Amino acid sequence: MKNEPFYITTPIYYVNDVPHLGTAYCTIAADVLARFERLLGREVRFLTGTDEHGEKIQEAANKKGLSAQAFTDEISQQFKTTWLKLGITFDDFIRTTEERHKEVVQHYIQKALQKGDIYLGEYEGWYCVPDETFWTQAQLVDEKCPTCGRDVKKIKEENYFFKISRYTEKLLQHIDANPGFILPESKKNEVVSFLKEGVRDISVSRTSFTWGVPFPQTDQTKSQHVMYVWFDALINYISALSPLKSSEMVNKFWGTESQPRAVHLIGKDILRFHAVYWPCLLMSLELPLPKRIFAHGWWTIEGKKMSKSLGNTIEPLSFTQQYGQDAFRLFLFREFPMGHDGDFSLKNFKERVNADLANNLGNLLNRSSGLLIKHLEGAIQPPTGSDPLLTPVTDAVIAAHEYLYAAGSLNDLPMERFEFHECLQKIFPILTALNKFVDSKAPWTLAKDPTKKIELQFVLHSVLEGLRIASLMLWPFIPATSDELLKRLGQIGATECLNGKSELTELTKWGKGRPAQLIQGQPLFMRLE
Ligand code: MSP
Repeated sequence: MKNEPFYITTPIYYVNDVPHLGTAYCTIAADVLARFERLLGREVRFLTGTDEHGEKIQEAANKKGLSAQAFTDEISQQFKTTWLKLGITFDDFIRTTEERHKEVVQHYIQKALQKGDIYLGEYEGWYCVPDETFWTQAQLVDEKCPTCGRDVKKIKEENYFFKISRYTEKLLQHIDANPGFILPESKKNEVVSFLKEGVRDISVSRTSFTWGVPFPQTDQTKSQHVMYVWFDALINYISALSPLKSSEMVNKFWGTESQPRAVHLIGKDILRFHAVYWPCLLMSLELPLPKRIFAHGWWTIEGKKMSKSLGNTIEPLSFTQQYGQDAFRLFLFREFPMGHDGDFSLKNFKERVNADLANNLGNLLNRSSGLLIKHLEGAIQPPTGSDPLLTPVTDAVIAAHEYLYAAGSLNDLPMERFEFHECLQKIFPILTALNKFVDSKAPWTLAKDPTKKIELQFVLHSVLEGLRIASLMLWPFIPATSDELLKRLGQIGATECLNGKSELTELTKWGKGRPAQLIQGQPLFMRLE
């Protein structure tokens, strides 16, 4: 619904690594959804940022011979700059080392302590530093971390524990009552079985290092505790809304129990933290739960796990400098559904760009605009006339329109369920049908016969009308291309929807184009060899 607030978050990224394909995937996906919602007229808040505390970051800083603060300042800036250069339209970038975050973390922990949900104890077991995760002996696989397969270390230290079991039953009920809370379905099932097995109380503080948010001192302990990095990190989703200053942003973007707003997009590896620990902590703090947690799959590169040691990571800035941002953005969601794992291969990337962007879109524009300039002085009009051969095109427009903007309940569109792949599968048939229409109408032949001028107009105007609609629908995925195409066609573009002057759902109907003069330009996409 128009003007309704919409809150989308990415995970905050650890600063021991620089942006890569995996983190870019998640950030771009959030950007696609943020743009989609803004285009519909919603008031969007898009949050991303960096996760800067914990043992792993302290170790990484030590290795580089830098103070933890200097180290995190440098890498956090690198994330921010990369996202800006990639055209990511985030509204806020939070760093967990910022005062505005730390004070909220301390405030909430104090609250949970007062509630009696936190107690002092001793943790003895295994710890995976790269994952910042506690494991029991029984959970290890071949003595290694069960999720990442790396070495774990034995730790024994005084910790504060969170009585998570107080909330797990209530969480199970919530999951059951809210089918779209954890998506995809398979991930929901994982969470449910994890909860049903019974969850042990979890550590929320550490004492064997100091790089963290100081834990509120209690009279039970003499040691200085710092927050366990995951509990510090998760709170970013609310601390960025400045809850201690005023409740305005929280009410608006976090929402209420009956109208939750927050949509957390995460990778499948961090599902348990988001879908179990975070909701339980929120319940303890008597705060509403997020609306949705969506866990996306993982990318491999040319069939191999992406890793620094293999040197096969894709650096998003240099990749997009070479191949273009829109091509990259589209490829990420065109290949497979977001809940699945997928492989990034240069061959598939090039094939996809050539088929969808160079041929289906770019070449269609070239062919039709060339003829329009040559034979009709570049004059664009909404198409008048009819032809049964056009029906597959108008049918494809109607089908895409229905699916994108009306399917499901108004408050839960396929894009909001991260069905990006499925949405693209509805939009691209418009272009395929248009290409078929052009081939069967052969406007280059019509152009040779002066008695066929009206038919030629109808064909070319129809093609440009179809291109106009498809590019508006594609704007969240390929914004620069869409802006350029609509500019050349002299048509209303995203800007007018964003500033409320036009209604996207109206504009994307057949026949809503306006008379204009075509501007010719360079091909939008070159074929990649
Ligand atoms: N700092 C935590 C998140 C805290 S959120 C409160 C963290 N950071 S991370 O930098 O290690 O990972 C961030 C995200 O990158 C995760 O969602 C993870 O799934 C994603 N990816 C890392 N490698 C990936 C792929 N190869 N493919 C897709 N996404 C991947 O975890």
